[in-house]
Amino acid sequence: MSKTLFIKTFGCQMNQRDSEIIEQLLGQEGYASTDSAKNADVILINTCSIREKAEQKVFSLLGHLREEKTRNPDLLLGVIGCVAQQEGERIKERMPHVDLIVGTQEIFRLPEMLERLTRKITTWEIATNLEASFVIPPFQKLLKNTPPSPPGPQSYKRFVTIMQGCNNFCSYCVVPGTRGREISRPVTDIVEEVEILVSQGVQEITLLGQNVNSYGQTNAVADGPVSFPQLLRRVAAVSGLKRLRFTSSHPKDLTDDLMRCFAELEVLCPHFHLPVQSGSNAVLKRMNRKYTVEQYLEKIAALRGYRPDIALATDIIIGFPGESEADFSATMDLLNRVRFHSSFSFKYSDRPYTRSAGFTDKIPEEVKGRRLTLFQNRQDEISLERNSESLGKIVEVVVEDCDKVSIKGRTGANQVVHMAATSASMAPGDLVGVRIDHAGKHSLKGTLTP
Ligand code: SAH
Ligand code: SF4
Ligand code: F3S
Repeated sequence: MSKTLFIKTFGCQMNQRDSEIIEQLLGQEGYASTDSAKNADVILINTCSIREKAEQKVFSLLGHLREEKTRNPDLLLGVIGCVAQQEGERIKERMPHVDLIVGTQEIFRLPEMLERLTRKITTWEIATNLEASFVIPPFQKLLKNTPPSPPGPQSYKRFVTIMQGCNNFCSYCVVPGTRGREISRPVTDIVEEVEILVSQGVQEITLLGQNVNSYGQTNAVADGPVSFPQLLRRVAAVSGLKRLRFTSSHPKDLTDDLMRCFAELEVLCPHFHLPVQSGSNAVLKRMNRKYTVEQYLEKIAALRGYRPDIALATDIIIGFPGESEADFSATMDLLNRVRFHSSFSFKYSDRPYTRSAGFTDKIPEEVKGRRLTLFQNRQDEISLERNSESLGKIVEVVVEDCDKVSIKGRTGANQVVHMAATSASMAPGDLVGVRIDHAGKHSLKGTLTP
């Protein structure tokens, strides 16, 4: 009987992609993925450390799993991802029932480590080398050797990792510590992976990296100097690909050439996630973001020149150390000027080994909470106004999920659209025309057009 594997994934798309790779890797070793932790032979928690809350969630889940482990002593419990990288052996000290700790660049060692644990050659395993190797190349082979994953609601869209690590050292951020230095993956590998995925029926690709705009700049392994816009053009040319997206971008590395891609490349979706973090130059400086609000606004204006209908999304940190009322007002002003379609906003939290953790002028929780609510309420109003711009229009929607009664899809601008099903049969990945009849702050409602 084959063994069962359950992976619980926290954090960003990088982690989601890593979990997919692990499922394929262990699939080759005879592990069948299940979507329930109950009765699984191996449970892996793929962890995120970006904010304090994210890390707390991991430890509370590990605490709960102690019972499971008592009930089934053969269960193997592993911690992987960014908390594993950051905390290493300390996880074992805090949670002695954990059997396996694997950092962000060692996931390819999972099969041998699990093998030793299963055969009781070792009692627990750890691998947290950073800068050990580039994680992705072996996956190329894996992808070719394993059959396409079974069709599911998400099978028409996939992530493709184009780089690893980050060199930016924003003063609040754990990522350079948990993912190591930036390395770009060779263009030929990326294009080949996209070609394989598209030949397996994938229609939408999202290119992933912590700062994709700097692709090719620090490349231990990239084959010759290739910029991100050049890479985008190569990927966009893969025949059969219908939609292309990428994330994340750093404003300082957003070039005119990249903006031009939004005018030139038909498959590139009119949606851009460009984290600004704060609307105050003083705060941006202490964050080590290396751009000013004025430069950010100039880039937004230029981008809209190339693609007037582009939907902009951003990330905001509220209550960074030293953020005054005036700094916060500047962030509200920026929101009102750019009028982002959507944003992800978070209360600042101290993270281990970051510079800002040592800053003294911390903002009280209740002040952060009040500011966050003000920001999010205003964003909700703007999101509703932005979504209302689609009313009466016919938009192209990719079907994500459907049953006999209702269909859920997504526009190129990344808006979720709900529709009633018709007699026509539908499958995830289908492109349909939809007339928008109703706009909410988080989604749209529409009617299928014949
Ligand atoms: N590489 C990406 C995403 C980084 S993490 C980028 O640079 O855009 C995603 C978001 O988490 C960040 O954009 C930031 O808004 C938020 N974040 C990171 N560290 C944080 C911290 N210490 N406290 C609160 N939010 C944080
Ligand atoms: Fe973190 Fe800054 Fe790198 Fe993004 S660019 S991952 S926020 S250090
Ligand atoms: Fe979290 Fe690591 Fe991603 S800290 S946001 S899972 S890179």
